[in-house]
Amino acid sequence: MVMTGDEIRKAYLDFFEDKGHLVLPSAPLIPRNDPSILWINAGMAPFKRYFNGVETPPRNRIVTSQKCIRTNDIENVGKTDRHHTFFEMLGNFSFGDYFKKEAITWGWEFVTEILEMDKNRLWITVYKDDEEAFDIWHNIVGIPENRILPMGKKDNFWEIGTGPCGPCSEIHYDRGEEYGTSEEDVIGGEGDRYLEIWNLVFTQFDKTENGEYLPLPNKNIDTGMGFERVASILQGVDSNFETDIFMPLINYIAVDSGIEYNKDPETKMAFRVIADHSRGTTMAIFDGALPGNEGRGYVIRRIIRRAVRYGGKIGYTEPFLYKLVPMVIETMKKAFPEIKEKETYIQKIIKAEEERFLLTLDQGLSILNDMIKGMKGKDKGVLSGRDAFKLYDTYGFPLDLTRDVLEEEGFDVDEDGFNQEMESQRKRARQARDDIGFSAPEEAKLYRCLKNDNNHEFIGYEKLKEQVKIIAIIKEGKEIDTLKAGQKGEIILDKTPFYAESGGQIGDKGILRLDENLANVYDTRKKAGLSVQLVEMKEGELHKGQRVEAKVFSDLRQSTARNHSATHLLHKSLKEVLGDHVNQAGSLVQADRLRFDFNHFTALTDEELRLVEEKVNKSIMRNLSVDTIVTDLDKAKEIGATALFGEKYGQSVRVVTMGEYSKELCGGTHVQATGEIGFFRIINESSVAAGVRRIEAITGDEVLRYINNKEYL
Ligand code: ALA
Repeated sequence: MVMTGDEIRKAYLDFFEDKGHLVLPSAPLIPRNDPSILWINAGMAPFKRYFNGVETPPRNRIVTSQKCIRTNDIENVGKTDRHHTFFEMLGNFSFGDYFKKEAITWGWEFVTEILEMDKNRLWITVYKDDEEAFDIWHNIVGIPENRILPMGKKDNFWEIGTGPCGPCSEIHYDRGEEYGTSEEDVIGGEGDRYLEIWNLVFTQFDKTENGEYLPLPNKNIDTGMGFERVASILQGVDSNFETDIFMPLINYIAVDSGIEYNKDPETKMAFRVIADHSRGTTMAIFDGALPGNEGRGYVIRRIIRRAVRYGGKIGYTEPFLYKLVPMVIETMKKAFPEIKEKETYIQKIIKAEEERFLLTLDQGLSILNDMIKGMKGKDKGVLSGRDAFKLYDTYGFPLDLTRDVLEEEGFDVDEDGFNQEMESQRKRARQARDDIGFSAPEEAKLYRCLKNDNNHEFIGYEKLKEQVKIIAIIKEGKEIDTLKAGQKGEIILDKTPFYAESGGQIGDKGILRLDENLANVYDTRKKAGLSVQLVEMKEGELHKGQRVEAKVFSDLRQSTARNHSATHLLHKSLKEVLGDHVNQAGSLVQADRLRFDFNHFTALTDEELRLVEEKVNKSIMRNLSVDTIVTDLDKAKEIGATALFGEKYGQSVRVVTMGEYSKELCGGTHVQATGEIGFFRIINESSVAAGVRRIEAITGDEVLRYINNKEYL
């Protein structure tokens, strides 16, 4: 029977609803509470806790059409008729309710009576030791023995990572000899002739991290039907790409690029890659993922980049993928109506990523092509790690892209060599960071020795004034004993109330005094992990070993604290107004103003700015208590503290909380309650880099000054 994609989905859900199943909407693509997977990759993935009995399902029969992403064989996407990054899996599930007999007989009924597939084209596989399943197929359903193939663990035992798994039985559809006659065109082979359309898993085990198969408390059913594959069969087309699920996208690309879809195999593949990847990226971004350098973000980035690269093969030199988003939404909106709301947002993100990548692509590709020419000349099959690293480091050309391009030419890349280069570069960078601010290696050594030889403590969270001991005086990179009036130098103390510049917060200012001898501390910095007071002697002199009074200018500290606490409130408010993708990308906290950089793709509207400002001020008015907890990183994550991207924390971390509103890992100094911030005012919003915005703001006294000045203008 010819059916549209939407009709197939509906028929499936209706069929199982009639058999007592609860129809649930698809879960988002980003797994909740499951660190074992990056993406929801099967219909059963959101239900693992129901299978292993940790949670009770709302009903013990559920049916869904689940959004899935799998990218482990991304290089096949576009090449074959049936591989995708994003696809829908139709699934019916039993949690300790029905088992093999119902799963099999209903499966057959749906395929042959509702979808009206030709029985003569259907083949069955079972796990070789599963006599029960064989018996049901043969004696109850009536499938001839020679059409039920026993298979081994590789084919007919379903598991993906850890979690619920078990033996399975599959239904395959024979599309006929015209789709292939190679040795791969057999059931379970890689060819395109036989399509596996439905996998019925008899979920009996829970696979643990150490590879054990523990029996589950109940016998369960997990099935997965390939939605796009079934559509290709019912619509009598050659591949998933020619169904009504993909064709609107293919047609759009043809019109937009001015190239014919079926012109030659290379352009055909480009069409398929782009159509597939436009769906993958749109759906993933809709569910909250964003391009980035790690984990899910990197997957999205790779998919977009691969699409851009294939776009080049059909003449695109400007961003184009984002233009397909409305069409993806059009084909999806029956199943996922809410997607429409984010159309503009998704487009902006994809476009920004395309723009960024196009810049690096041109240059990198031409250099790589030269390298490939060189390899051909020398009959060399493997690109050196050094060359691959040069492409990456100097031209921003990612390794996987280098690998993809090389693979197409039948070449390889030395990935171990690449990783070694990367590691040496990391080491160099670490060394450079440690030695920053030192004019010579002896100087760096001096600070390291001082740190190793002395106790040295920061007491400035609690105290702004204290009797302390001078443990060293340094002038122009050398240790000296005395600093005299008029001289500038650095003083290191056994314990210090002065906060050294870090985490974006500037260093404290103040004085060191012993009787009439007075040094002005005009800044405090960290050097090799030591807190260093930068001083100018105003009166008299100070000596190494003396005990002196150290006093931080409390007004400046308090103004800085206001701004620092305000950045935490701002961070949280931005997340609330713009979305969870907002993350701190940098900050500067001074006494007179604050600057906060964060990931976001477009300028904020006046309305958004107003809302953010209002939220911060409301939290100030609520006078939330500001508290700190020192704990370990795991505990901090457990209580939901926001950790800065890319920052490395030691074993013990400090979490700053503001009521229940904000929880952040932070070493800075803060007000005791948010009311002390007084008032918060945004004075500027701008862009700092692709995808990074900046807000500048003032608090407390500065707002007063600002308002007073404005009134006179
Ligand atoms: N969970 C099974 C699969 O993904 C149904 O094939």
